[in-house]
Amino acid sequence: GRVAVLAGGGSAERPISLKSGGECLRALQALGVAAEHFDPAERPLAELAGFDRAFIALHGRGGEDGVIQGALEALGVPYTGSGVLGSAIGMDKLRSKLVWKGLGLSTPEHRVPASAEALPEVIDALGLPLFVKPVREGSSLGTTRVDDAAALRTAWEAARRYDAEVLVEPCVVGEEYTVAVLDGEALPAIRIEAEGRFYDFEAKYQSEATRMVIPCGLAASEEAALGELALAAFDAIGASGWGRVDVMRDGAGRFWLLEVNTIPGMTDHSLVPAAARARGLDMAALVWRILLTSRR
Ligand code: DAL
Ligand code: MG
Repeated sequence: GRVAVLAGGGSAERPISLKSGGECLRALQALGVAAEHFDPAERPLAELAGFDRAFIALHGRGGEDGVIQGALEALGVPYTGSGVLGSAIGMDKLRSKLVWKGLGLSTPEHRVPASAEALPEVIDALGLPLFVKPVREGSSLGTTRVDDAAALRTAWEAARRYDAEVLVEPCVVGEEYTVAVLDGEALPAIRIEAEGRFYDFEAKYQSEATRMVIPCGLAASEEAALGELALAAFDAIGASGWGRVDVMRDGAGRFWLLEVNTIPGMTDHSLVPAAARARGLDMAALVWRILLTSRR
């Protein structure tokens, strides 16, 4: 049947989604699937009813947060990846943390300052350095690492441009890992080595200096524990099908959950295709497996 590859959309991550969608579309067509690009920002959603399946390659609000998933449910069109609930919680870094904390899964402390006046207490409570992030955004847009108190206000205002709610967390000093999840299984973990101060937008999509290290260098038992943690975090928020869990490891070897991406990047600079390759799945095999996650 006909498959709509949903890409573009109206979020701040639109340009990334167009790249992810282009890669997925090409791979599906190479497999002989009758796949077509569908940009929900440019066509009425009702036209999706004419497709047999939707392959969602949208990132950010409106596409990764349960909105389009709900529309597809209403239209009766099966779609890839997480359902409404998992998508909504996955997009929301604050509510994800609250779920994990409730289950005893470790994630950094946090504050959500209601106003600029509350910022000094945040430093008293959490110390420095800090990460300041919009609650619902992706690709590190609006995210800043803050090393001195004077920079917090500007960082908070930058995040507020993306979301009315801003999350502040202590920076976990250590190594950054990410684990792709496919069909209930953790793919090989990747250690990310960014050149700058963190894995920001430029490091994600533009820099050739960012290294994705696979095998990640952890002992087998530790990598297995990381994979179990990623699967537990993914299940806890109600995510399903496929996605990617971002985790820090501190100097003592303890893992800290940062967030789940329910529709992670699929560009040629992206992490999930690299993890799949390490498992022997090329892009065609990966998109086929993702297509098979489409919900009935
Ligand atoms: N939000 C970007 C696309 C990612 O997680 O890969
Ligand atoms: Mg994200």
